[in-house]
Amino acid sequence: MTWSHTDNDWPTHGLSFGADYNPEQWDKEVWKEDVRLMKQAGVNLVSLGIFSWGLVEVADGEFDWDWMDEIVGLLADSGIAIDLATPTAAPPGWLLAAHPEIYPVDHDMQPHWPGARLGWCPSSPVFRAYALRIARALAERYGHRDHVVMWHVSNELGGGNGRCYCDTSAAAFRRWLQGEYETLDALNEAWGTAFWGHTYRDFAHIIPPRGNDSKNPSLVLDFDRFSSDELLAHYLAEREVLKSVTPELPVTTNFMVGAEPDVVDYPRWAPHMDIVANDHYTRSSDPLPEQDVAFSGDRMRAMTTQRRPWLLMEHSTSAVNWQPRNRAKAPGELIRNSLSHVGHGSDGVLFFQWRASRAGAEQFHSAMVPHAGEDTQLYRDVCTLGRHLRRLAPVMGSRTSQARVGILFDDEAGWAMTKGVKPNNHLAYGRLVRDWHHAFWRLNESIEVLPPWSDFTGYEVLVVPGLFLTDDDTATRVSAFAEAGGTVVVSFLSGIVDEHDRVRLGGYPGAFRDLLGAWCEEFRPLQEGETFTLDNGWSGAEWTELVRAGDAEVIARYSGGHLSGRPAITSRSLEGGGRAVYVSAGLDSDALLALTRSLVRPTGVANVPSGVEVLVRRNDEETFTFFVNHAGDDAVVTARGREMLTDEPVGGALHIPAGEVRVVRSGAVS
Ligand code: GAL
Repeated sequence: MTWSHTDNDWPTHGLSFGADYNPEQWDKEVWKEDVRLMKQAGVNLVSLGIFSWGLVEVADGEFDWDWMDEIVGLLADSGIAIDLATPTAAPPGWLLAAHPEIYPVDHDMQPHWPGARLGWCPSSPVFRAYALRIARALAERYGHRDHVVMWHVSNELGGGNGRCYCDTSAAAFRRWLQGEYETLDALNEAWGTAFWGHTYRDFAHIIPPRGNDSKNPSLVLDFDRFSSDELLAHYLAEREVLKSVTPELPVTTNFMVGAEPDVVDYPRWAPHMDIVANDHYTRSSDPLPEQDVAFSGDRMRAMTTQRRPWLLMEHSTSAVNWQPRNRAKAPGELIRNSLSHVGHGSDGVLFFQWRASRAGAEQFHSAMVPHAGEDTQLYRDVCTLGRHLRRLAPVMGSRTSQARVGILFDDEAGWAMTKGVKPNNHLAYGRLVRDWHHAFWRLNESIEVLPPWSDFTGYEVLVVPGLFLTDDDTATRVSAFAEAGGTVVVSFLSGIVDEHDRVRLGGYPGAFRDLLGAWCEEFRPLQEGETFTLDNGWSGAEWTELVRAGDAEVIARYSGGHLSGRPAITSRSLEGGGRAVYVSAGLDSDALLALTRSLVRPTGVANVPSGVEVLVRRNDEETFTFFVNHAGDDAVVTARGREMLTDEPVGGALHIPAGEVRVVRSGAVS
């Protein structure tokens, strides 16, 4: 079988379906059984070799390819495509023993001792040389096999070595700073080092933010940026080697895009991926896992150019093993979450992992084949999902459509807001953004969660929640969006500092003060348990401010307390029909829902029953509408076309059983 893999083609025929496959944990008899079960389930793509460096390169420069030749051959004979991993997430014991200097070192200067993963310093030239050698060896041996269709560089780069404080990293950090600032004067000015007399006289005196005490936040932020760049440089070095051997094969690495600031700056990494891939795991403690799936999907939608598909590289069939209490997925949740990711633009569904491990650190993590084996509801659900994905094959390559609501999310802003000492150290950046997302998601609005340097064309509403760090360019473009007729909503703690983490003077939020008309004299963060009420009946907690309305209209004022009668929410109308709303208080979810409802024009989607999420993908000829019923009751929506999972015509009312998904394919887009 020949697989096509040009830049524009997806590497599998039909939506990708499969998992991380770790045959090295099993006897060869099990491999044959694996292939039988994979074919039965409809698996067409597996990620192979992610953690098998030590089993292939058994000693320095000494390779044992036999077992890998065999499994690569077995998968080829079975028509299962391979997403071949460079195994650099797990350096072998002989390498770590010979070169302990490659261990990453934490902020207390403690090395990460071998025994886990990603035990290497991203700046280590020694590690880099060994990593590129194994990457080249794999590319030369397997890269030209027809069924090897893409490269999976390492695994979750930064998950274990996201920040390394060793001397090698410190030297690399200084070089990075010299590249960024050129002169010490520029650096001292940007970081405000006169504070505590920390002015640097020599680049050699700069050290990473080691220790636990409060460091200069500008130093910390630049160390975060540097760390992201160092890991990206590692990815790019591996990518270059792979491309030099197999220029036609797509290269990616799996992101961990979720609800909090990422360990590295993924939106800045994304342009370097041939296919942007993500790993997403819900948390047992999350009261709204389905919104978490939507949130990561809405971030992924904005991660590609022109809303091209991305790939869900990992999620779980049921419980994970790394949370305090690992919740098993409820009936239907596996399929519902999977198809929700597809509705958000993923051209496939892959899991960690194919077969549940018997031993090792992840022995109690769910998989496509559980410990109990084939005769289980879980494996039957996996087979059902495989059938669904085959029926959904025409969706492949279609793009998500332009969202009406854009919500800005920026890793740098998140790092800046959540590190160091702040007026309210209990505010989580991700939660602030997710609260806004939640409100629009409840309204069934189409949403993209996008980086601030994106093109804002096409959105009707732009939300700027807690964008603590805002550069001038972002401030200018957000204002231009409102001047061109758009609605901008800025929440508290946005636009507070510039790109060097220096406060913008003259009243908060400095970057948006002119646009909003209103401004804040003083933050008034609330204590735990304290709440506020507004004169329109809305309430909230955690954050208030002493606001001056300026030339903006007051939408709601405080009722009672120190701030009674003072503005909490303001709106300024602009000449071009746009407006700029300032939400200076920590509204609760009902208040946010009421506010967001007043910001968007009603659409047909508003008539969809509550609990049914609507997601749309399109190609040049057709529209695919996903109806995801998160509710405990059956729902009926209005639709026309052909339902793809049941293969039945829909001429009006479409019935969606509780907890299930239906996808309607309809003709030419008007
Ligand atoms: C991912 C990782 C996988 C596996 C999984 C468990 O973060 O890439 O290798 O550990 O978590 O949930």
